[in-house]
Amino acid sequence: MKLPFSESYKIKMVEPLRRSTRREREQWIKEAKYNLFNLRSDQVFIDLLTDSGTGAMSDRQWAEIMLGDESYAGSSSYYKLKNAIREITGFPHFLPTHQGRAAENVLFSAMIKEGDLIPGNSHFDTTKGHIEYRRAKAIDCTIDEAFDTTLDHPFKGNINLEKLEKVLKENNREKIPMIIVTVTCNSSGGQPVSMKNLRDVRKLADMYEIPVFFDSARFAENAYFIKIREKGYADKNIREIVLEMFSYADGMTMSSKKDAIVNMGGFIAMRDKELFNRASIFNILFEGFISYGGMSGRDMNALAMGLYEGTEFDYLETRINQVAYLGEKLKEHGVPVQYPFGGHAIFVDAKRFLPQIPQEELIAQTLAVELYLESGVRGVEIGTLLADRDPETRENRYPELELLRLTIPRRVYTRDHMDYVAVALSNVYDRRELIRKGFVIVNEAPILRHFTVELDRA
Ligand code: F0G
Repeated sequence: MKLPFSESYKIKMVEPLRRSTRREREQWIKEAKYNLFNLRSDQVFIDLLTDSGTGAMSDRQWAEIMLGDESYAGSSSYYKLKNAIREITGFPHFLPTHQGRAAENVLFSAMIKEGDLIPGNSHFDTTKGHIEYRRAKAIDCTIDEAFDTTLDHPFKGNINLEKLEKVLKENNREKIPMIIVTVTCNSSGGQPVSMKNLRDVRKLADMYEIPVFFDSARFAENAYFIKIREKGYADKNIREIVLEMFSYADGMTMSSKKDAIVNMGGFIAMRDKELFNRASIFNILFEGFISYGGMSGRDMNALAMGLYEGTEFDYLETRINQVAYLGEKLKEHGVPVQYPFGGHAIFVDAKRFLPQIPQEELIAQTLAVELYLESGVRGVEIGTLLADRDPETRENRYPELELLRLTIPRRVYTRDHMDYVAVALSNVYDRRELIRKGFVIVNEAPILRHFTVELDRA
């Protein structure tokens, strides 16, 4: 018999979970104004809200914590991280920040001004938030295939080069400070970008002399997909693939809370010393001195180790297989899930799950609440709430896709947990026709409303 697949690590420390009753959950979600961000973590049994900062560090990372150097300037931890970033990404300059959006804030302060256009592949919401906050505009150039959840395409994160070229051709170069490529593309479902697409974007950018930056939160998962799916990469190791990917960029922003498997942290890395100098000023203003930027020395040590571990093939194989395992279980039951499965999450197509709910009643949020009531599993809405209002017209933006994201933390849950989630959502699917009403918004913030929005039953 062929040996079955199994995890590339074992458990050394555990954290107890508490189950709850449906009665308790009905009370709690009502008190939370039907916003899953308002739940206390002990009201959640399996937490698939995000893969951000929720991973389990390894024994080697915890050992690095003890070796942290907390000097204000020039700490050995800073140099350890600088070496790791240079070795893995190839970028000679870097600035530490406290998380990914802080990296965006610093880099965009140095590069983006009012009226600018920033083309890319479905910018993540904080990226878009930081662009729109500066009265600039994010332009989505993702391939159309990304918006059909049933279509099999190996690289649904790809940029449509015609859409991109149209933006570059029709606008003054001074108005386009950068192109942002998100790898993997979270907003289109954790979908990867192919090496060929990265190379082609680079060529186009060179023609128009526009810098390219990667939003790199899940760059290692992207590299894994290139290895598995793209011709010519099967025999390359993950680190070689990562180096080639970044060779097509001028720089990167990083939320280290994802593929670097730490609970907090981020950075910016780049080739250009002059840009590094300009961005350093904002780093010192917003984050901290350039040799710590909002991170303690011990955390920089753990991050350096996390970059190495996060780019090991065996770890990535375990990771991507676990996500796909959940996806397969749901698919077997007929639950409409996005295909192919993404790297960090399974995206459930809520429009196909609950066709009777109108989009104004927040379809994906309705499904998220139902799953919580059924099982104590917390997913997250990627739909109308997240899409927010148009900053100019203040009208609701209704996205093409209404998704419930079941995001899998790294090295945290077991296959039994995945089975539990699959049965829970399958149960909701079996009684889907009984769900007749969604939600209305009672209270919302002017920007990034999904975190704090208050809802009531429609
Ligand atoms: N870019 C991408 C692609 C992201 O997914 C995130 C965060 C960020 C930037 C911002 O990084 O949280 O460290 O400030 N994504 C999380 C999520 C929050 O749940 O998808 P951050």
